[in-house]
Amino acid sequence: MATARTEEEQALAGLRERAIAELATIATAEGLDEWRTRFLGRERGELTGILKGLGKLPGEQRKAVGQAANTVKNELEGLLEQRKAALKAAEQSGALERERLDVTLPGRMTPRGHIHPISQTIRDIGRIFSQMGFQVYDGPEVETDYYNFQALNIPQDHPARDMQDTFWIVPGQILLRTQTSNNQIRIMEQMQPPVRAIVPGRVYRNEAIDASHEAAFHQVEGLLIDETCTMSDLRGVVERFAREMFGAERKVRFRPSYFPFTEPSAEFDMDCINCDGAGCRVCKYSGWLEMGGSGMVHPKVLRGVGYDPATYRGFAFGLGIERIAMLRYGVDDIRLFSGNDLRFLRQFA
Ligand code: DAH
Repeated sequence: MATARTEEEQALAGLRERAIAELATIATAEGLDEWRTRFLGRERGELTGILKGLGKLPGEQRKAVGQAANTVKNELEGLLEQRKAALKAAEQSGALERERLDVTLPGRMTPRGHIHPISQTIRDIGRIFSQMGFQVYDGPEVETDYYNFQALNIPQDHPARDMQDTFWIVPGQILLRTQTSNNQIRIMEQMQPPVRAIVPGRVYRNEAIDASHEAAFHQVEGLLIDETCTMSDLRGVVERFAREMFGAERKVRFRPSYFPFTEPSAEFDMDCINCDGAGCRVCKYSGWLEMGGSGMVHPKVLRGVGYDPATYRGFAFGLGIERIAMLRYGVDDIRLFSGNDLRFLRQFA
């Protein structure tokens, strides 16, 4: 019987040693759980196995082995708790280490966006005309043949259509507007004189693209309708705009021209901002920069929107916005504005 006792005690001692040695190598919560089940588990734990076998031993031995087993059990449970606590502490200090915050570091800069030079130019144009009493309107880019052409006295087959190569959506009926002049009609249809409106916006032309031509670009349309209104008022407004935008010393000249929706029609130029009219590369040695088209609104157009040309008259003008932006910022290729190259755009921050 003495051997039996030694056997149980040996098994217990072996178990204890293995359990302690293994515990020291475990570094995860799952590992600890698994360890606990294996050695101390109520169902199949090794120690439980020994305790279950106690019944076969004679009384005195049963007591001795039982006590020894309980001592080992308590010891192992204590060690398990210690190991758990140690792991938790290690994890926390590791997390603190990883999340270490150096409050002396400089702040991280968030890049700040800014307005596109074309949008900025549109805003400035709006501001200048607002000061002269004009209101800023908006209009559709997808337009009907009627508003883009017919109502502007450009019937089907009119040769003036050749000046504006059109992107058709439904051929002959729906198009991408080729000019902001469509809004002259839309505005006059919706309000009674006096009218003082400008409409900036994108226009589209099916053109070969180069440094001064884009298939999509921007115009601003101007329209003033009143009972008394002359071409000298038009001149005054355009001149004032040129001076506000490009400097008080600017001069403007008008040249006779032709547009189907104005009569008389004129194109206007501004003396070159680069050479003050002396002649240089920017103005192609003419001393003048082309600014836009204009004229007195054609009686046919007025009649078409229900205005009586005997009572009302007015002027209209159209300016290319990219052209203005190119001049004010010294940009020599129109394609840069729509290229989205940040190296270009950041210069306008
Ligand atoms: N819409 C014309 C164009 O794109 C420009 C223009 C000329 C507008 C005369 C006008 C105007 O309002 O009166 O070429």
